[in-house]
Amino acid sequence: MNQDVSPAAKLPRTSIVREWMLLEFDQVDSTNLVAARLEPWTAVRADTQTAGRGRFQRSWVSDAGGLWLSAVVPVSERQHRQLLPLAAGLSVIESLATFGIRTARLRWPNDIMVNDRKLAGLLVDSFSPDTAVIGVGINISNQPAHHDNSLAATAIRLVDVVHDVPAPRALAEAILNSLRSTIDELQNGGLAQLCPRINGLWGDPRPVRLDLDGVERFGLFTGIDECGRLLLRDEQENVTAFEPHQVRLLREII
Ligand code: BTN
Repeated sequence: MNQDVSPAAKLPRTSIVREWMLLEFDQVDSTNLVAARLEPWTAVRADTQTAGRGRFQRSWVSDAGGLWLSAVVPVSERQHRQLLPLAAGLSVIESLATFGIRTARLRWPNDIMVNDRKLAGLLVDSFSPDTAVIGVGINISNQPAHHDNSLAATAIRLVDVVHDVPAPRALAEAILNSLRSTIDELQNGGLAQLCPRINGLWGDPRPVRLDLDGVERFGLFTGIDECGRLLLRDEQENVTAFEPHQVRLLREII
């Protein structure tokens, strides 16, 4: 478990959103680190992050105008932990749809893409055995490319996609609302109920390269099965299922 948690941040604004306690800050280092020691069903939002964390120890540009949100959820079974990225991706895409944003798709396991550009990323952290922190970063009207030139070619923001963009707080409320019921569904019925909804969000089957910790596999990504395993179809039409932890990285071959 990751012990590198944030020291006490300045006092937040506190409100109840659906069944969540939401703490809002002007600025923190990372909302995931602030959330690390909080109770389940608590969420943290900040206008900016000074040390936003991405997957693979990368940094995440978190300038004003984006949504930087972390939600603490209970984890009862070990298997559920590895399914959380998929469940969270589902909630984010379904929430975006409620604001008329219907062109977003999932890229395994939990990137939110519009065409071939990244709109949002999720980072699930495990700081304690009984909880998980789901971090959600969404580019809305912020300027990620001003802070990291390389993002000009790879990132996209909601203002590039729709005319009327939701405010970060409004989007946070929609996501927390959806996440509450998605996590409840996952805990009560496993992935069986959520699986068809998740599989509707990948877009067309795409050729991909999997990095299985050093070993490469090529094929067509065709979604996930009811256990949350990634399904890869090869040229002979054979389908292989991979546990999420077996796949270090999936790259789409454009
Ligand atoms: C990725 O690499 O795609 C994951 C990015 C996750 C960024 C979000 S922003 C809110 C939360 N706090 C963090 O420090 N990271 C996540």
